[in-house]
Amino acid sequence: PPLNRILSLPDMENVAGQILSHKALAYYASASDDEMTNSENARAFTRFFFRARVMRPVAQCDPSTTILGFKSSIPIFVSGAALAKLGHPDGELNITRAARKEGIIQMVSSNASFSAADIIGSADHSQTLFFQLYKHRDDDIAEKRVREMENLGYKAIFLTVDAIVAGNRERDIRSPWVLEEQETGPQYFEAGTSDELKDDVNIFGTAGALVANDDRDMTWEKTIPWLRRITRLPIVIKGIQCVEDAVLAAEAKVDGILLSNHGGRQLEYSLPPLEVLHSLRQQRPEVFSKLEVYIDGGVRRGTDVVKAVCLGAKAVGLGRPFLYAQSAYGEPGVSKIIQILRREIVTAMRLVGASTIQDLRPEMVQRVDWHPH
Ligand code: FNR
Repeated sequence: PPLNRILSLPDMENVAGQILSHKALAYYASASDDEMTNSENARAFTRFFFRARVMRPVAQCDPSTTILGFKSSIPIFVSGAALAKLGHPDGELNITRAARKEGIIQMVSSNASFSAADIIGSADHSQTLFFQLYKHRDDDIAEKRVREMENLGYKAIFLTVDAIVAGNRERDIRSPWVLEEQETGPQYFEAGTSDELKDDVNIFGTAGALVANDDRDMTWEKTIPWLRRITRLPIVIKGIQCVEDAVLAAEAKVDGILLSNHGGRQLEYSLPPLEVLHSLRQQRPEVFSKLEVYIDGGVRRGTDVVKAVCLGAKAVGLGRPFLYAQSAYGEPGVSKIIQILRREIVTAMRLVGASTIQDLRPEMVQRVDWHPH
């Protein structure tokens, strides 16, 4: 269908489901085991309702904010997701260009199809990009990578900690295919591991192959000080899944945490990030003043974004929707879903009685225990 018939992110996902190759869909859509966490990530939003305030002036409504001090036109960002070329030859560059046009920030995956240099090379010099790090188990290799990203101009490191081994993604593992060289990042092939990588994909699925060299012995005591020593960039921990670890992250003095279960692709029955955010707000509200808190997983509507921001999220990440949009329509598709989210966010803000992001308060959201379905 023409792009102007796409009214929502679910519409976009439907189109992507029709045009994506079997292997791309298997990789993008899959989640662990019975995919319960993946579906509950989204369903969690249906348990939170608004307590809208009326008779407030909302003719002017400004949804803009900052993330780690960098401007963002709405409180969303691109969560780094691997292998965008599986869906479209321009891959991640579609997202970079649309992110510039729409004024949002892209987090670039360690396993992007294009190199981190090519991606930032296609960006505007004033554009903010963050880098998602899968830490190599060899500290020296990891250090080199981090320094390279800082030199390239990436503005923050999102250290992923929830994927030390790959989750059991059966849709992906069942799909009988190998990665083609043109679909993966150059790092594998430059390192001379292409044959190994292809073998690993056959045995472990794409996910297993992509995290094969990652550090499985990271700790708060060792890894965070190491990262602090080698970079001046802000550090965000991606993949915090409970209140206790959010508190430890604050004690480790990182700059932010992304409450995330990797889109349900890692630990099956990991709690939905929105529930973790709600628990953090109730149990340890002081954490929100020590670092920035973000969530991702299952965000598909402007109301989802506004609920999370009410509960204290500085911004909200989306993974699959950007992959689907760029696969289906390239750069204009990515612009389209950002515009849809902007319109939905502004509508929800006005109807809930908020004219700025600061007006969104925890009291405007109520968790219900009746099941809405
Ligand atoms: C991911 N995600 C991810 N995370 C990460 O830290 N590094 C990565 O390389 C990837 N790769 C990746 C590939 C694909 C196909 C998906 C769907 C996801 C996880 C991603 O950053 C994010 O946490 C989730 O996608 C958020 O959930 P939603 O928005 O997809 O529901």
